[in-house]
Amino acid sequence: MAGGRSVALAAGLLLAAAQLLQLAGSFAIHLRAADNITVTIKPGSSVPPLKYCEICIKQMCKSELRITAPVKEDIAFKCKTPEKYLVMEIQKNIDCMSGPCPFGDVHLQPSGLPRLNRTYIWDVKANKKVGLELKFSTPWLRQIRPTDTCPDLITYSISSCIDTTRVSIGTFCRNGSVSRIKVQGGVVLALQLPWNSDLTTSGFNIANRSSIKRLCIIESTFKGETSATLMSANYPLGFPQDELMTWQFVVPSNLRSSVIFRNYSLSNCERKEERVEYYLPALYSSPEVFKLSDKQPANIPGNFNLSLQGCDHDDQNPGILSLLFRIVVQYPQNEENVTYLIDLRKERDISITIQPKSPHSGRPLQFEPECLICKDLRICERNVTLTSGNMYEIFFQCYDLERLRITAEKTIACWDLRHCQKKIYDLTVPRAISQLPVRLDKFTWKLLAPEEINVEIISPSLKLQQHIQDQMCNKSYSYDIVSTTQGKELKLGIFCPGGSIEKIQMRDNITISLKTYGRGFLNDSLNQDLKMSFVPFIKEECIFTVTPDPKAQVYLQTPNWFEGLPPYVSVSWNITVPRKQVARLAFLKERMDITCETGRAYVNIKEQKPKAEETVRREDELLPEPLHMYHHFWVNISNCKPVTKKQLSLQFWVTFVSQKTDLSLIIAVVVGVAGALSIIGIIICCTRKKKKESQNPNVGTYNANINTQMPGRHGLFKKRRQDNDSHVYAVIDDAMVYGDLLKEYNGSVNPEVDVYRPFDGPMGDTPPTPPPISFKKATKISNSEELPFCPERDSEPYTFAHRKPEETTSNGDTSVNSTGDVGMSLLESKEQEGLVVQLMPKE
Ligand SMILES: *[C@@H]1O[C@H](CO)[C@@H](O)[C@H](O)[C@H]1NC(C)=O
Ligand SMILES: *[C@@H]1O[C@H](CO)[C@@H](O)[C@H](O)[C@H]1NC(C)=O
Ligand SMILES: *[C@@H]1O[C@H](CO)[C@@H](O)[C@H](O)[C@H]1NC(C)=O
Ligand SMILES: *[C@@H]1O[C@H](CO)[C@@H](O)[C@H](O)[C@H]1NC(C)=O
Ligand SMILES: *[C@@H]1O[C@H](CO)[C@@H](O)[C@H](O)[C@H]1NC(C)=O
Ligand SMILES: *[C@@H]1O[C@H](CO)[C@@H](O)[C@H](O)[C@H]1NC(C)=O
Ligand SMILES: *[C@@H]1O[C@H](CO)[C@@H](O)[C@H](O)[C@H]1NC(C)=O
Ligand SMILES: *[C@@H]1O[C@H](CO)[C@@H](O)[C@H](O)[C@H]1NC(C)=O
Ligand SMILES: *[C@@H]1O[C@H](CO)[C@@H](O)[C@H](O)[C@H]1NC(C)=O
Ligand SMILES: *[C@@H]1O[C@H](CO)[C@@H](O)[C@H](O)[C@H]1NC(C)=O
Ligand SMILES: *[C@@H]1O[C@H](CO)[C@@H](O)[C@H](O)[C@H]1NC(C)=O
Ligand SMILES: *[C@@H]1O[C@H](CO)[C@@H](O)[C@H](O)[C@H]1NC(C)=O
Repeated sequence: MAGGRSVALAAGLLLAAAQLLQLAGSFAIHLRAADNITVTIKPGSSVPPLKYCEICIKQMCKSELRITAPVKEDIAFKCKTPEKYLVMEIQKNIDCMSGPCPFGDVHLQPSGLPRLNRTYIWDVKANKKVGLELKFSTPWLRQIRPTDTCPDLITYSISSCIDTTRVSIGTFCRNGSVSRIKVQGGVVLALQLPWNSDLTTSGFNIANRSSIKRLCIIESTFKGETSATLMSANYPLGFPQDELMTWQFVVPSNLRSSVIFRNYSLSNCERKEERVEYYLPALYSSPEVFKLSDKQPANIPGNFNLSLQGCDHDDQNPGILSLLFRIVVQYPQNEENVTYLIDLRKERDISITIQPKSPHSGRPLQFEPECLICKDLRICERNVTLTSGNMYEIFFQCYDLERLRITAEKTIACWDLRHCQKKIYDLTVPRAISQLPVRLDKFTWKLLAPEEINVEIISPSLKLQQHIQDQMCNKSYSYDIVSTTQGKELKLGIFCPGGSIEKIQMRDNITISLKTYGRGFLNDSLNQDLKMSFVPFIKEECIFTVTPDPKAQVYLQTPNWFEGLPPYVSVSWNITVPRKQVARLAFLKERMDITCETGRAYVNIKEQKPKAEETVRREDELLPEPLHMYHHFWVNISNCKPVTKKQLSLQFWVTFVSQKTDLSLIIAVVVGVAGALSIIGIIICCTRKKKKESQNPNVGTYNANINTQMPGRHGLFKKRRQDNDSHVYAVIDDAMVYGDLLKEYNGSVNPEVDVYRPFDGPMGDTPPTPPPISFKKATKISNSEELPFCPERDSEPYTFAHRKPEETTSNGDTSVNSTGDVGMSLLESKEQEGLVVQLMPKE
């Protein structure tokens, strides 16, 4: 063994001798005093402990060498490949505290060093108030995480000091966007080079600057489309407490930047708040402050800067403030070069807002490029508001205009009817808005007037369809109509073009909101047809004028469908029956499903002809079975004050058959059914009463018994319908009419039964359930092959009978009571009438 060892030793000595022979390859290191450089050669940290390569100066060999200026030394290595074992550190101290700084280009000094992995360290000491600028030559620097390595193994590590604490500004590779770094009061820059690097220059210079008043400023310069990742100081460790750091971005104005926070954590602040602050000079003149959790700005044109502000930590549990973000610089996507002229000079009281569909997604890590709207090309914002009286040039810098929405509001007011009664206002979306490539979300008209002035909207060519469950609107836009009085809203409903409603008269302040669905509005906006005018007071809450065409199936429902009609509110429909047609009017439910506390709820139906009979149903009666109307007719629904919160909501629909079909079918049915089945008499006799002949065709007068306050009664309009007992009187009024009619009918010849209905068979005592009628089924009516009445029950036997005149009461329809017995006793109905009559003395 000993022999072996000595052989090895001998071999080692021989090797050493051989290496010494190579001293021709020795290096002269010359350090001048002025350089203030210290060179250290030592074993690399990754080199196993026993593997070393000695460094020799004048035959004196050691494993580590440290030489300090001024000195001139010749050194040699005792191994052939010292780069495998040794590393070198060249530290240069630059003192700016005691004298002038040697600013300018920083050189890789001294020259002629051995080819070892080496680290140049420039330690610049400066006054706390002095700003130092490191300016990098192209291709600049790219920040990496401290644990990452650069592809060429050339790494810049920059740190600064706060008092005595070293703070890492960042670790960088060559070839990036970081063009300058400014620090305050001293900086340490370490440049690591691999042994085989041919780099001859440091790639940066140092200059002094006035105080930057913060930890550091990192400037990134972008020339074209690219992205960069940047990190807060000390990342991934905590950003120093109560510090400020800024990133400056130099971006050509034709490029857009988006900031995306990839990773951040927050510390526990005792005082102040952690935040980021943007200076976006192309967009805003003042800084924009965001939380780190906010969505960060994107699509920023041109230069801008971003600052990270820390807070005073809670000493017990400081937490960590850290931020890693990406900046993406790109050409504006799908940018239109079109400038839109929006001329609102002739508009009045209109305000248009263009804004992001959803202002903040709340997902900070999600990349969402910003859409900018530029007024006059240079002033770009995320949302803009345009107002009447002005003209705008709008330019979109947005790669997906779907992300933007337009909302607009227009106010039309009338405070004195003399000034506005004759005027017709167009409720159409101005072309200036509908032509924009951005979707109109909502256009709202606010129609304001005092109480005694009402509003009428007409849609002569398109007409409106009410959006209801069984006939949904499927057009590209719809109108949501709401009337508001004293903060209370009555939702008239949603209407869309292409129906039968030609006119709506309404009380109170009206809000009409046009909402669009899909892109079809662009086309459809060309034929908008909604006009509005102010009209004198109407008694009903609203009156719908319905002018259907013969093929139409008109589905209607009371306003405020979901909540129900408010107490004492009355609504009328003026329904036109097309020439040579018979209208079939049917209700969806069998009952009104309410119980009145005060007043009574009524459904009144009456043809618009002299001496027409009226079908009247009170809330305690069944609603009429499908009725046939041969003339234009009225439907009026008025509410009482119900006992419970449940309010009145009714749906009905109207369909048409031509008069011929109608008659022949009736005959066919009568003949066929009469021959085949036994007849059980049921007469659906509606309350028939003659209205006072003096009534004029005026709407309000049509329904004298509406539960609303009548204007003529008080002369003034101060009294609201809900704040007095006028409804009671109105009801009594009606009761008187009924009373009279009762007398009138007594002994008179009862008119022919004009409404047939099938025998429904026995019914239980159960509360009324929705009838087995569906609007969809009812649509079959137009098919003349089918029975025009009650097609939904055509499997049941039809039975008909003429009730004897004396059995007819004004409450005829109650004759089909819940037990299915034919007729309610006269007494019962008389009693009911009596109830009403008893109220009469109040009047
Ligand atoms: C050299 O560096 C040391 C230590 O930082 C400093 O004390 C000394 O003043 C420096 N000398 C010159 C000439 O810069
Ligand atoms: C020199 O640097 C390379 C790359 O970082 C490394 O693999 C090698 O171990 C280093 N040499 C020494 C002696 O540390
Ligand atoms: C710099 O980086 C870009 C990609 O980021 C690369 O295409 C280019 O070749 C690099 N240049 C140098 C000199 O490394
Ligand atoms: C830079 O340093 C020089 C000398 O030290 C001084 O005269 C000059 O004012 C400094 N410039 C700034 C911007 O601080
Ligand atoms: C974000 O931080 C977490 C935890 O600090 C780390 O695991 C993850 O790698 C980081 N992501 C990035 C993109 O830096
Ligand atoms: C940030 O930008 C604003 C506006 O351009 C400028 O006034 C301010 O000096 C900048 N701040 C820094 C630290 O670059
Ligand atoms: C828009 O204008 C810019 C500069 O004026 C031009 O570079 C670009 O090609 C234009 N884009 C389109 C789609 O016309
Ligand atoms: C943009 O939207 C913000 C918040 O939604 C609002 O405060 C600001 O007034 C809007 N700006 C314009 C010009 O409408
Ligand atoms: C819209 O509804 C009507 C019936 O209400 C129907 O005839 C029409 O085809 C529907 N249109 C679309 C686009 O769904
Ligand atoms: C309509 O609104 C205006 C202003 O808001 C108000 O003065 C007026 O009384 C309202 N009219 C009604 C009927 O509530
Ligand atoms: C708009 O109308 C034109 C012609 O009338 C038609 O070709 C186009 O498909 C329509 N676009 C939409 C979205 O309906
Ligand atoms: C009812 O509607 C028809 C058809 O539109 C119309 O001629 C008539 O004047 C209306 N009646 C009232 C009282 O408004």
